Amino acid sequence: MNTGRLAVDLAGLKLANPTMLASGILGYSAETLNSIAENGAGAVVTKSVGLKPRRGYPNPTVVQVDCGLINAMGLPNPGITEFAAEIRKTKAAINVPLIVSVYGYSEDEYAAVAKKAVEAGADAIELNVSCPHVKDTGSEIGQNPRVLDAVVKAVKAATDRQVFVKLSPNVTDITEIAGVAAKAGADALTVINTVRAMAIDAETAMPILSNERGGLSGSAMKPIAVRCVYDVYEHVKVPIVGCGGVADWRDAVEFLLAGASAVQIGTALALEGPEVFRAVTRGIDKYLRRKGFKSVNDVVGLSHRN
Ligand code: FUM
Repeated sequence: MNTGRLAVDLAGLKLANPTMLASGILGYSAETLNSIAENGAGAVVTKSVGLKPRRGYPNPTVVQVDCGLINAMGLPNPGITEFAAEIRKTKAAINVPLIVSVYGYSEDEYAAVAKKAVEAGADAIELNVSCPHVKDTGSEIGQNPRVLDAVVKAVKAATDRQVFVKLSPNVTDITEIAGVAAKAGADALTVINTVRAMAIDAETAMPILSNERGGLSGSAMKPIAVRCVYDVYEHVKVPIVGCGGVADWRDAVEFLLAGASAVQIGTALALEGPEVFRAVTRGIDKYLRRKGFKSVNDVVGLSHRN
């Protein structure tokens, strides 16, 4: 495979191809992160980690629906002190960029977690300011321009690594939030996290998830995510990483044409297995050759011409 044609540069973070593991799927152990890298992902993003351990919600935390998955896991994680050992182990094993997703309850917490993650070996940080159902963090941060500005600035001041900000679609105007993040110093934007959703069991007449409400990922999200990428591309100049419903090369190309420089894959990995990274990368490569493009970068934002 011609890595030159597929190589992307996300604000200085270099990927051999434009596919990335999305945060939240298989992102806690060095073994699984390494296996995703070996299966062809251009970069991997861990599950979100906070300052202190967090148990998360009781089961059921995931439900499969016709058009994807709804999850409300509740940000379970071992806390950054314990997770730092896993970051070190992962870093020693993988040969693609390792991005650590972090969350917090204040700008100081986000900054402290990011600093420790970088000290342990993270190549870049992704800020989870978009988890749609955990109180006082996630989208409660990312929906508030003043708080988001403070969080991004604090993390930028705490580390010299690239800071990606993962945006929520559950806002009135995603371009306003994207602008706030970019102005505060975000190096790249991940567009988007899950859409607030729920499922109810007809037999028990009860919500299926223990948390009742969760976030929808998978194919139903793709048109929403493509529209968000398209809108954000017209408003900010930082690189965009598309996320939401990528399952094959055509989905990935659609995101690139909308303005994403790379794509994250999560639900398709859970439903179809890790071969999805190589299949998507091969498909993008074939598309570029068929259309006569020398580089994947040549198609980024192409649908905005005229
Ligand atoms: O429940 C969760 O851990 C989900 C996190 C997210 O959507 O960011």
